[in-house]
Parts: sequence; structure tokens; C-alpha cells
Amino acid sequence: MTKLQRSVASPNVVCIEDFRPIARQRIPKSVFDYLDGGAEGEITLRENCRIFNDVTFRPRHAVAVGKVNLGVRVLGLDLALPFLLAPVGYSRLMHPGGEVSAARAAGRAGTGYILSTISGHKLEDVRAGSTGPVFYQLYLMGGRGAAEGAIDRARTAGFNALVVTIDTPVSGIRERDYRNGMKELISGTLLQKIPFLPQVLSRPGWLFDYLRDGGLPGLPNVIIPGKGEMPLVDINAALAESTPTWADLKWIREHWKGPIVIKGVLTADDARRAIDEGVVAISVSNHGGRQLDGLPASLRALPEVVEAVQGRIEVFMDGGIRRGTDIVKALCLGANAVLCGRAYAYGLAAAGEAGVDRAIEILRTDLERTLRLLGCDSVANLDRSYVNVPKSWEA
Ligand SMILES: Cc1cc2nc3c(=O)[nH]c(=O)nc-3n(C[C@H](O)[C@H](O)[C@H](O)COP(=O)(O)O)c2cc1C
Repeated sequence: MTKLQRSVASPNVVCIEDFRPIARQRIPKSVFDYLDGGAEGEITLRENCRIFNDVTFRPRHAVAVGKVNLGVRVLGLDLALPFLLAPVGYSRLMHPGGEVSAARAAGRAGTGYILSTISGHKLEDVRAGSTGPVFYQLYLMGGRGAAEGAIDRARTAGFNALVVTIDTPVSGIRERDYRNGMKELISGTLLQKIPFLPQVLSRPGWLFDYLRDGGLPGLPNVIIPGKGEMPLVDINAALAESTPTWADLKWIREHWKGPIVIKGVLTADDARRAIDEGVVAISVSNHGGRQLDGLPASLRALPEVVEAVQGRIEVFMDGGIRRGTDIVKALCLGANAVLCGRAYAYGLAAAGEAGVDRAIEILRTDLERTLRLLGCDSVANLDRSYVNVPKSWEA
């Protein structure tokens, strides 16, 4: 076992929450808070996690469960696990291995990885790094030409699906990032950076890795025609200039003939609209509470969307998943699979690839144990009969 693997092995890390203090110790406050925080008062962020307490289990006891099957078939692919790794921008700031490490760990575990447009590694390297399926999450930043370039590259590299995130017409205001000087640290002058440097200098291990990795990464998957690679400057301005609309799906579909997933659906209306646009799956998501604060928890929005979809397309869900029991509850409420964001990103920030491996392992063993305790031998057999939902949820 390597030193890094030991650092996140039991008893240091027994559940996902245990990664947080280790990550907080390893990376600067600005990077930790970027990962950990949400928008405005962080009400939606907290609610995403809290809401799982409202749903309780209805087990079938005294049932002999043999081998437990955790596999699902989504997007035409057989996955060994009912969860995928969600797109997490700036992963390379958390650890130099960043997106490549996360994709490799996902592939090793037999599941998929979704690469954010805001990636410090080239999409070709991410594809080559993983033995599992990889999906490209598209933002239109840099304009249509840049997006078309990324789509063409993703197709050539062999990405399995495109994930279009629709909840980011502008970036949400993440107050911790402002207080920590994230903007100044990324794009400010030396004078502007000075007040925020102590938090970086107090993490020499991270700083050493960061400098050895070449310092601030660019955005190698956002190539603006005639201009070149988009620098990692003010992402917020770039996002605000590139609001995706339903109309954009038309030209996106002309460039990408493969499966398209829409991420960021919270209502029956948007779910139906996505079906009309010919997508194969949607993810019920509030972006991990990082966009509009005051949105409902993803789990709370899931039943409305599942009801509207009526099995016509696949429904994923993301937001607040920290335990295998959370995944099981989402599957019981009709999700075909879930996406995990912070659950693996805390692992990445704590110990690089070894941390992602450990996060996946924790969720996998949680899932297996939970199914056995429920008396259910397969995630495919999970349904509403295994949970109690509050009366107020009944439509
Ligand atoms: C640090 C961070 C960066 C993120 N960057 C992106 C992104 O670039 N694109 C995207 O569609 N979603 C992004 N998300 C949202 C995740 O894909 C996912 O919706 C969210 O993390 C789910 O909530 P959870 O973290 O509670 O699991 C990001 C989330 C985090 C925590």
C-alpha cells in the first residue's frame, strides 16, 4: 500500500465525510472552499444532503441474499456500479492528476466519468487514461466555434456521450470564492494576489505539486478559432456570454450524432422539453447547490421528473450523495443511475487518484451492504416499495 493509499484507508477514512478534513489540510482554503461551497446562503447545498433523511427504508428481513448485483445498463452501456463520476471543473487544481486520475479510477471500477469543459487536461488524455466509458460535458464558453471543435475532438477521441449542462446561464455567486480571492489568485496582478497568498503558502505540499505541474492550467479543450486556447481567466464572464438554449440543441445534434444527456432538469416541463429535443437521458440536478440558491433538493425534484418522463428516456439524479444509502434512495425513487460530484472530488483533493479509488470503494461497499440489509439482491429490483416518503411528497 502506498503512503497516499494509507492516508485514506480505514480508520483514517471510513466514510466520505472523513475526506473533508484531510482535503482541507492538503489544499489551500480557496481551492477547498471552491469545492466544498455553494451559492449564496448555501441553502440548496445543505438541503441536497439533508433531504435524504426524509426518506426512510422499508426492508424485507429474513431474506437470504446471495450475490448482490450492482450493475446497471445506461446510455447503452453496462456499468458495474449505479453511479457515475459527475463533471467537476478545475479538478486539476485539486490534484495534478485531476481529470485523468478521476477518469482512470472510474474506469478501473467499471463505471463512467464525465469530463467538464472546465478541465485542465486534454480530453484526448482523459479518454486514453480510462478503460471505462467517458462523457464530455459541454459548456458553450468560447462561442460556437470552440464548442464545435471540442465536439469534433470528443467524437474522434471516442467519447461515449455528450452531456449538455443547462443550468449555468451565468455562474451562481459562491460567496466563499469572493472572500478567498479566487478571482485575484487566478487572474489578478501580483499586488492583487498578495493578501490571499498566505493561504497558498501554508500548503507547501500542494504548492510544490502545483508548481511542478506547471502552475495554473489553461483550458485545453476550449480552443477559440483564430485565437487559440482559452485561458483560465474569468470563467464567469465566458459563461455569461454563452448561455445554452434549447435552440442550440439543434446544431449540437448536427455535430454530435451520439447520445446526448441534458444536465440540470428540475421540473416536469423541462423534462418533457428534453424528450421533445430527442435526448436519451436527463440528470435531475441543481448543480450541487452552486447555481440558484433556493432551488429544491435534487431528490425532492426527482419524483416529479420521473412521473413526467414515464420511462421514455433515462433519468439520472445528482446532488448531495455522500453515502451508498443515498444512492439506493434515489434509485428507489426512480433514478436509473446517479452522478456523484463532491463525494469523489473530496477524495481527489485529499489523496489524488488513491482518494478517488477509495471514495468509489466506500460507495460500492455501502451499496452492497445496504442492499443486503434491505433484502434485495439487485439494484435493478429497487423500487418505491423499499422506501417511505413523506406524505407531503404525494402529488
Ligand atoms: C467543484 C465543483 C465543480 C463543478 N463543475 C461543474 C462543471 O464544470 N460542469 C457541470 O455540469 N457541473 C459541475 N459541477 C456540478 C456537478 O457536476 C454535480 O452536479 C454536483 O457536484 C452534484 O452535487 P454533489 O457535489 O453534492 O454530488 C461542479 C461541482 C463541484 C462541486
